[in-house]
Amino acid sequence: MQKDPSHAVLITGSTSGIGLAIAHSFARAGYAVMLHGLATAEEGRALCEEFSRYPGSAGFSSADIASEAGCAQLVAETREAIGNPAVLINNAGVQFTAPAHEFPADKWQQILAINLSSAFFLARDLLPAMRTANWGRIINIASVHGLVASEHKAAYCAAKHGLVGLTKVLALENADCNITANAICPGWVETPLIQPQIENIAREQGVDIESARAQLVGAKQPLARTTSPEAIGELALYLCGKFAGTITGAALPVDGGWSAQ
Ligand SMILES: NC(=O)c1ccc[n+]([C@@H]2O[C@H](COP(=O)([O-])OP(=O)(O)OC[C@H]3O[C@@H](n4cnc5c(N)ncnc54)[C@H](O)[C@@H]3O)[C@@H](O)[C@H]2O)c1
Repeated sequence: MQKDPSHAVLITGSTSGIGLAIAHSFARAGYAVMLHGLATAEEGRALCEEFSRYPGSAGFSSADIASEAGCAQLVAETREAIGNPAVLINNAGVQFTAPAHEFPADKWQQILAINLSSAFFLARDLLPAMRTANWGRIINIASVHGLVASEHKAAYCAAKHGLVGLTKVLALENADCNITANAICPGWVETPLIQPQIENIAREQGVDIESARAQLVGAKQPLARTTSPEAIGELALYLCGKFAGTITGAALPVDGGWSAQ
């Protein structure tokens, strides 16, 4: 098994959507990849098998990172499978929409734990080895909702704005060790996460899924196209490449002009 830490990456929430696309980008580039997400051991094995066509090794963890203990479990399983990762990509995230005055407390706690606190715990645990190696990359998959707000997304917006703030602190604290920290802030990306929102519009307005998708995207983005998960994967890879060494503390929108308004 390859255990070259300078080419090892942990991507949270990489069994699906954006995280999975990021994993493919890094694996194609030769990285050993730690796959992670809420999937069965059998699904994890199948995913590793799929990644065996790439040059680097692949490991899998199904740790639930909604708690500090779950994050510690993920760190331990990652070190066991691919060594200390030089690149950490905090991507796992969940969504729930409701007006703030009706927002259930358990949903608030869950979104803050998964979308924000896990990024802190994982960075805290992996940074010492990055600092010793004098190189590291932390990429937080935030959202345009880390830059602007939308109705009914109190917890999501709070978590993503928090993630952008955390990114800046990590960038400042670790610049002395050639470690960069950046946030990517996508608008609408075509993944399972946005399906319920598309289906809600279709149901409420009695339109087909295509019209509902166009309505969802066009309502916020001047450039009314969804971003592909692969585009986020390639941007994350660029941030680890030789031309991105001075990009740090940034929150990069990939949002069809949403946050330019
Ligand atoms: N899809 C979009 O339009 C969009 C836009 C902006 C930002 N984002 C962000 O991108 C990230 C990925 O979103 P996606 O659309 O690919 O979502 P997705 O639903 O396709 O995938 C989410 C991943 O997170 C994992 N996950 C969820 N809860 C977990 C937990 N408790 N423990 C461990 N893993 C858990 C899932 O297993 C899955 O692998 C999220 O942080 C999301 O907020 C998505």
